[in-house]
Amino acid sequence: MAAAERTLAMIKPDGIEKGVIGDIIKRIEDASLKIVGIKMHHLKKSQVEGFYAVHKGKPFFNALCAFMSSGPSIAMVLEGDGAIANWREVMGATDPDKAAPGTVRSDFGTNVERNAVHGSDSPETAKFELSYFFDDNEIVTYEWV
Ligand code: CMP
Repeated sequence: MAAAERTLAMIKPDGIEKGVIGDIIKRIEDASLKIVGIKMHHLKKSQVEGFYAVHKGKPFFNALCAFMSSGPSIAMVLEGDGAIANWREVMGATDPDKAAPGTVRSDFGTNVERNAVHGSDSPETAKFELSYFFDDNEIVTYEWV
């Protein structure tokens, strides 16, 4: 079994607007991913540009940054065995039309931009993305009973 790890999850502005925060969090906990940090914020465009810097120069970059700063979003620290891969499986493919049935993006996404959620794609990305939104003292510890 993969070692316990952490990943950064986001509920994007379209997920907030659709009123599916609770549905998405239920999928997270049902997948044995423990939420050990959570915050809601309305990001400035400059903050989004920094977060998605790896995509700078791509054709969708400007629209993505405009969308992600168009309304509030939720950032979460998820912890569990193989958390990065687990959350990516629960999310489904980037394009909701290609995402497997029953995944978050298939059920709650609209198109490749408005795809409801984000997740880190590697340990290196997770390290960067977690530290982008969370200080160490904003991450908690608790046990499920
Ligand atoms: P996300 O996992 O948050 O990472 C980058 C985001 O860019 C991606 O989800 C999509 O929402 C968005 N995006 C918009 N257009 C594209 C595209 N053509 N290909 C890939 N990602 C895209």
